[in-house]
This record gives sequence, C-alpha cells and structure tokens, in this order.
Amino acid sequence: MAELTTLEEKLAEVLGLAQAAQKATEKVEGLVDDDSVASKLQQMRTEAEETERRCTEVAENRNGKKTAILEKAQETKGEATEMMDTYLGDDADGLDGFEFMTMAEAGEVGHWMVLAKLNEQAGEEPISELTGWALPIQERHFSETKECALQLAGEKDPYEEA
Ligand SMILES: [Fe+2]
Repeated sequence: MAELTTLEEKLAEVLGLAQAAQKATEKVEGLVDDDSVASKLQQMRTEAEETERRCTEVAENRNGKKTAILEKAQETKGEATEMMDTYLGDDADGLDGFEFMTMAEAGEVGHWMVLAKLNEQAGEEPISELTGWALPIQERHFSETKECALQLAGEKDPYEEA
C-alpha cells in the first residue's frame, strides 16, 4: 500500500468525515419532527455528498495514491460512525442528536482548517480550491447545527423528566 503524506492523510480524513456526515444527518433526521430542522439536515447531507465527490476527485488525481486515501477515509468514517453510535443510544432524542451534530460539525471545521493550513506550505492548487469551497460550508454547518440545538432546547420543558 502506498504511503500517504500528511497532506494526503488529512485529505482522507475530511473525506471520511464527509461520508460519516451523510449517515449522521440521516440518523438525526429520524430523531426530529420539526420540518425546518429536517430540511436543514437534508441540505447538509446534499452538501456532504458533494464534498465526498470533490474530495474523491482530488484523490483520484494523485498518482497511485487513490486506493490508500480511500482506505484511510474508510477508517475515519468508521471511527466517526462508532462515536455516533456510542453517543446516540436507543433513548436519544432530537436535542441529543443536535448536540452530537455540533460536535461532528466542529470536528469537520477543525479538520478542514488543518488541511488548509498544511496546504499553505504545499501550495497545491486543487487542494486550495477544495478547502476554499468546503471551509465556509462547514462553518455554516456548525452555526446551523448550533442554532437548531438551541431551538430544540428552547422548545423543551426544563422540568420534564429526562
Ligand atoms: Fe458538515
């Protein structure tokens, strides 16, 4: 298996997180009944699919590294999904779901920032194009999930039995 550079490893990680985000938005959508909140999740899922597509395209154009990048992404996806399953047990509700989403989206933002920072030195055009496109979207995902979490929290009766 081809050895990955740090830059390629980080590319693999954001790819894996974009794959995991598709599963997370689906799972959390199942926990909420508010339509506006559900449609935010659908939009995030569509954007996570597009993120996966663009990351895969960049990986495909790296000589001989595509398989290794996709395998590393699979590993990241598996870890993130495991974290989700641990966090969101059978008794999870929509608010729990969005608390998880704030962690997941903050994690995505952090990883994209690291990739962009690494590429400041590397100066690879396809990567800077990718991070320039993805970072603002991930930042919006984080603020939207935060707003949805607060909306759901605002609708809760603080004295009801948890
Ligand atoms: Fe996201």
